[in-house]
Amino acid sequence: MTQIKNIMVTGGAGYIGSHIVQFLCDKGYSVIILDNFSLGLHENVDPRVKEVIEGDILTEQDINKAFSHDIDVVFHFAAWKAAGESMVDPAKYARNNIGGTISLLNGMLHHNVKYFVFSSSAAVYGNPAYLPIDENHPLRPTNYYGYTKLIMEQNLDWYSRLKGIKYGSLRYFNATGYDINGKIRGKEKNPANLSPVVMEVAAGIRAKLQVFGDDYNTRDGTGIRDYIHVTDLADAHLLAMDYILEKNENLVVNLGTGSGHSVMEVINIAKSVIGKDIPYEIVGRRAGDPAKLIASSELAHKLLGWQAQYSDLTTIFKTMCSVYF
Ligand code: UD1
Repeated sequence: MTQIKNIMVTGGAGYIGSHIVQFLCDKGYSVIILDNFSLGLHENVDPRVKEVIEGDILTEQDINKAFSHDIDVVFHFAAWKAAGESMVDPAKYARNNIGGTISLLNGMLHHNVKYFVFSSSAAVYGNPAYLPIDENHPLRPTNYYGYTKLIMEQNLDWYSRLKGIKYGSLRYFNATGYDINGKIRGKEKNPANLSPVVMEVAAGIRAKLQVFGDDYNTRDGTGIRDYIHVTDLADAHLLAMDYILEKNENLVVNLGTGSGHSVMEVINIAKSVIGKDIPYEIVGRRAGDPAKLIASSELAHKLLGWQAQYSDLTTIFKTMCSVYF
């Protein structure tokens, strides 16, 4: 295996990025973070990181500064991720998730960096033609966020064919929870995802939760998702890096548990774990939301030996409690 000198993590102070950085530091890797701190938090940056560059993937100078470190692998998390917002402000998502990622890839070509681990999403699939969704499922995103992830996966494929980049694209289902060891404690700023919003309501930061639609064709009418703990995701990222380096091959895999929970089920489990009421109201559907998404992660299991360990909702909310209370 190639000897890894330095690893660049864009968005390394963000929600998922900070968890991956912690795992990389635990394994003794030398990590350089490039983060513009628009959502990232200094308190979530692991103190073992070699350098934190406060900069932007859209600024060539900042990218070059990060690549001046003799980077072997790039992990890319610096992206907007609110599916609902992407439907009302697509330009914001185009600029950063597409434009920023292209700049980063061009920086890799310029500095002869070959390996890339990409934070992709189940949102690339859109409405399921069948469940659970495997990697051969048609790619028809129903929100603009998912489109930005899909187009970047397609670009990665081109850059791989034309320029020899090797990439791992990890299609997360619904990332949630906090560091199982309780070291990452900074709360996400202005969250839009279900579980942090539930926690904000339980902690009294918000008055109530809005449930986006109870007229879906699901067991209780609310949307069903496959929730995956961020510590499980972190584990998969390291395995994905090892895979692309050792095999010198690309990798595209789902990361989920294979089972789904409705919004109402999430509320009820959260209530019992937290021991507090979670006031909610039913409102209209959010644009771009499919009724039900559940992953098949058999490929990740087969290729990486990966399996979720911490992704039951009780563990998920227990790890969130240590951050919100
Ligand atoms: C979306 C993407 C997912 C991506 C994630 C990143 C889709 C289909 N999925 O997840 O791949 O990783 O964004 O952010 O695009 N809900 C409420 N009230 C709220 C918030 C959410 O009822 O205040 C409901 C939603 O309608 C949905 C479920 O909770 O049924 C989960 O929503 P959310 O946490 O926002 O994630 P997704 O949109 O599923």
